[in-house]
Amino acid sequence: ALATASPKDLSGLRVVVSAGGTREPLDPVRYLGNRSSGRQGTAVAVAAAARGAEVALIAAHTDDGVLAEASAHPGVEVRRAGTAAELGDAVRAAAEGADVVIMAAAVADYRAAEVSDRKRTKEDAAGPALTLELVETEDILARLVRERAQGQTVVGFAAETVAGTAELRERGVRKRRRKGVDLLIVNAVGWSEGFESPANAVIVIDAHDEVVAEAAGSKRAVADAVWDAVLAARRAR
Ligand code: CTP
Ligand code: CA
Repeated sequence: ALATASPKDLSGLRVVVSAGGTREPLDPVRYLGNRSSGRQGTAVAVAAAARGAEVALIAAHTDDGVLAEASAHPGVEVRRAGTAAELGDAVRAAAEGADVVIMAAAVADYRAAEVSDRKRTKEDAAGPALTLELVETEDILARLVRERAQGQTVVGFAAETVAGTAELRERGVRKRRRKGVDLLIVNAVGWSEGFESPANAVIVIDAHDEVVAEAAGSKRAVADAVWDAVLAARRAR
């Protein structure tokens, strides 16, 4: 058990957190994926449980060992999802009656238009180049916002490649508006920034497009800052 006591300020809340990266199959042995480790989303789930919430963690692909702490926590129920479509179904089922939904998962924007039942071979291709037809996946977050019950707080995450903090804020505000979420948590990523690391740095944009928090440090510290912002947004309503 951890010696550090968390305030039980999320007691009585039912929350849903998605984490990890979806994998969209191309054929029985290949997929389109992304670099999400699932660490930040899992930290958000564990922090909520430590603060007294009842948590459903919908986990897509995560790095080895990342789910261990969450699975061991009595306040967290872990459900697995592979593709964007599966994640959407699982999140919507869990979101019914929930007070807060946080989409920290890295959801694939596109999936293969046709998934082959047989392994694709080079013989299938017409020459040295391959063209894959991709189609958009459903925007799970936008649909959550559209269909949410009154009083439910919906939060998104966005990882952006940007030149500096001004652009991070600008892109974050645009995305916050486009998604219609109560809060958008934005961090900068690059080839060597934001992944495979125990630490993170984010800004939090609220429904008035204000930067209401900046947090840097361990993914747990960032997770606690996210929950502080969620509580503040719910109180301000
Ligand atoms: N998201 C989602 N469903 C999708 C894509 C994204 O629910 N099909 C969610 C993510 O979980 C995240 C938020 O939307 O919480 C922002 O994801 P992001 O990829 O930054 O947004 P997109 O709308 O896909 O925009 P972009 O073109 O920048 O990728
Ligand atoms: Ca995207």
